[in-house]
Amino acid sequence: MVCLGNICRSPLAEGILKSKVDSSKVVVESAGTGGWHVGEKPDERSIDVARKHGLDITDQRGRKFSAYDFENFDYIFVMDNSNYRDVVTLANTEEEKEKVQLILEEIFPGDNVDVPDPYYGGNQGFENVYQMLNEACEKIANRLQ
Ligand code: 4NP
Repeated sequence: MVCLGNICRSPLAEGILKSKVDSSKVVVESAGTGGWHVGEKPDERSIDVARKHGLDITDQRGRKFSAYDFENFDYIFVMDNSNYRDVVTLANTEEEKEKVQLILEEIFPGDNVDVPDPYYGGNQGFENVYQMLNEACEKIANRLQ
């Protein structure tokens, strides 16, 4: 799960997908394309909305996406088109590039829809992001199981 800062959207996506899959079979991680928040906990508003829905994401720490992630993961879900461009630039092969997908393709295939960045907005933005990610992660989890 990849976003820009790895403190708002992708930590929520990580927590949500983890809650829907068997952790002995599926490894879920998140990362940011930017490095400003490496080592930090998720944004308090993401922690709060996760908690409201029964998820604890406080043990997550920010890290930066790396080209090695293409080797370690089968699927790379990005939150928006800007993340897509930043991640695909680091792909070395067509096969690596094909691992990258906008996460909302799960719900709106072919529509090229972004998960809006809630960083500069209010709490309602985080609830909206939670709802979108929950629906997308449900589809991903069903496919993986
Ligand atoms: P995220 O949101 O990409 O969903 O984690 C952001 C968090 C921090 C910044 C930008 C987006 N920032 O510029 O610090």
